Amino acid sequence: MKFFLDTAKIEEITQAAAMGFLDGVTTNPSLVAQTGKSYLEVIQEICKVCKGPVSAEVLATDYAGMMEEARRWRKVAKNVVVKIPLTGDGLRAVKTCTEEGIPTNVTLCFNATQALLAAKAGATYISPFLGRLDDIGIEGMEVAQEIRSIYHNYEFSTQILAASLRHPLHVKQAALLGVDVITIPFKLLPALIHHPLTEKGLQIFLEDAKRIPA
Ligand code: E4P
Repeated sequence: MKFFLDTAKIEEITQAAAMGFLDGVTTNPSLVAQTGKSYLEVIQEICKVCKGPVSAEVLATDYAGMMEEARRWRKVAKNVVVKIPLTGDGLRAVKTCTEEGIPTNVTLCFNATQALLAAKAGATYISPFLGRLDDIGIEGMEVAQEIRSIYHNYEFSTQILAASLRHPLHVKQAALLGVDVITIPFKLLPALIHHPLTEKGLQIFLEDAKRIPA
């Protein structure tokens, strides 16, 4: 399973890379807006640090505008993946991108039939937003499971990128389910690493070590 970081902050990306948890990066307009920098500047900076796939989102909502932005993003760096919303125009843009060899990440997916359409259009990644589904009382993980089954049934090569993950349980369930990629906010990394028994056990070992003769 690949670990992507869901952020536009270069310091978070650098730290995750140092820990070995950086197979790629996803961004979205809300995350980029928090940096105070232009979207182009942010993606250029990220691509210097991360050599894995870096998702940059189109802001146009019409097919022609999306394609113009997709082709522009693709020229920024060879690891840029164009993030396209799951709309009618978006799916059409995904199909054209696929024909042109531009990798895509279809975003804002909230059910299995949407994911089926994205795979038919040739999406490289599908991003079901699991946490946002949980927020409205729908089991996001069940949707991910349905997508996994459908993609398996028809041998689609589209990779499932579990997004909008909020806590360690999401990460465990996504891994058990066999998603291809998870994208997580930086703040989730410490929550995944720490365990009170690890800390307590380490304290005991360090105390006991003081009694070991030199
Ligand atoms: C993924 O590509 C999205 O940027 C992200 O996971 C959305 O997460 P959120 O629901 O926490 O904003």
